[in-house]
Amino acid sequence: MEIDEWNEVAELIHHSTNSWYETNGKETIFKGPPSDALLFCQVYEDLDPGCCLIACCNNTGRIAGSCFYHIRNSHISLGIMNVSPDFFSRGIARNLLTRIIQIAEDKALPIRLISSAQNLDSFSLYTRQGFSPIQAFQDMYLEVPEEGLDFKISNEYQVGVAKVEDIEDMVALENRLCGIERRKDFEYFIKNERKIWNTFVCRDEHGKILGFLSSVDHPASRMIGPGVAENEKITENILAALLDRFRGKCPVFLLPVTAKNVVQTAYSWGARNCEIHFSQCRGQSQSPRGVTMPTFMPETS
Ligand SMILES: CC(C)(COP(=O)(O)OP(=O)(O)OC[C@H]1O[C@@H](n2cnc3c(N)ncnc32)[C@H](O)[C@@H]1OP(=O)(O)O)[C@@H](O)C(=O)NCCC(=O)NCCS
Repeated sequence: MEIDEWNEVAELIHHSTNSWYETNGKETIFKGPPSDALLFCQVYEDLDPGCCLIACCNNTGRIAGSCFYHIRNSHISLGIMNVSPDFFSRGIARNLLTRIIQIAEDKALPIRLISSAQNLDSFSLYTRQGFSPIQAFQDMYLEVPEEGLDFKISNEYQVGVAKVEDIEDMVALENRLCGIERRKDFEYFIKNERKIWNTFVCRDEHGKILGFLSSVDHPASRMIGPGVAENEKITENILAALLDRFRGKCPVFLLPVTAKNVVQTAYSWGARNCEIHFSQCRGQSQSPRGVTMPTFMPETS
């Protein structure tokens, strides 16, 4: 993808995603205009310039499919994949994926992604090419009232805004809990030049980082994640702190289905389920420890 193709790719992402959900009897994902989806081009190109493949129709020159990817030391992540509904089921997504698999194989890296459990077109696209689920997540949304929520949680941990000095410890924590390394993403969130990210860290009484969590607040994506924490109590503390940043808004977050205490706590705050996702990997992956909260941009698992 070149810069003069961003608008067309944004339209494709918007149209492809919304029409897939509408056709399958679900609510559309993007509520605003197609230009909102430019966010994906902006964020992915900020992070990894030149890492978006597009498929163009030979007859019309129209962009029929697009897929972002981001290469990290430990793995390659596959970002949002879209095919125009006019071109569904013609092998375009498979073709884009095959190219990215080739890049991963050349670098001897595993590929990771998050895929919807309700979208078998996407689930099968990946599993047919050798991906397999690592973990299942509940997607939950929560309408945070203007006056905020009474979270009723213990404050045995200190939660504060992440700083550049925290990045080293964040990288080490995620590496230990998930076996991946992506310093670049954390630097980007904390630098926050687009003014859409928030990142909090949670510490014990000695100042040791036990968890961290980021969020994005933009009309195209209002999500809490990515982040990891040593345990569910820490996740609760840090999630509450971030939710408080969304007063009057309705963010989405993904919790591991196995994190049953924090899932129950989220229900008690008023959260509701909207989807189920799997983290998937092609190649080697470590069994997750602690609590992982993935996100869709930049996609992680
Ligand atoms: C998901 C999506 C990208 C697939 O694009 P596509 O170009 O139509 O997919 P392809 O034609 O390459 O088909 C993918 C593979 O899935 C297979 N497949 C689809 N449904 C299947 C099923 N129920 N069981 C088994 N295999 C299935 C196809 O047979 C094909 O495999 P093959 O080429 O080895 O035969 C497209 O539907 C889309 O853009 N959806 C909206 C956005 C989205 O969901 N994106 C993905 C998540 S980020």
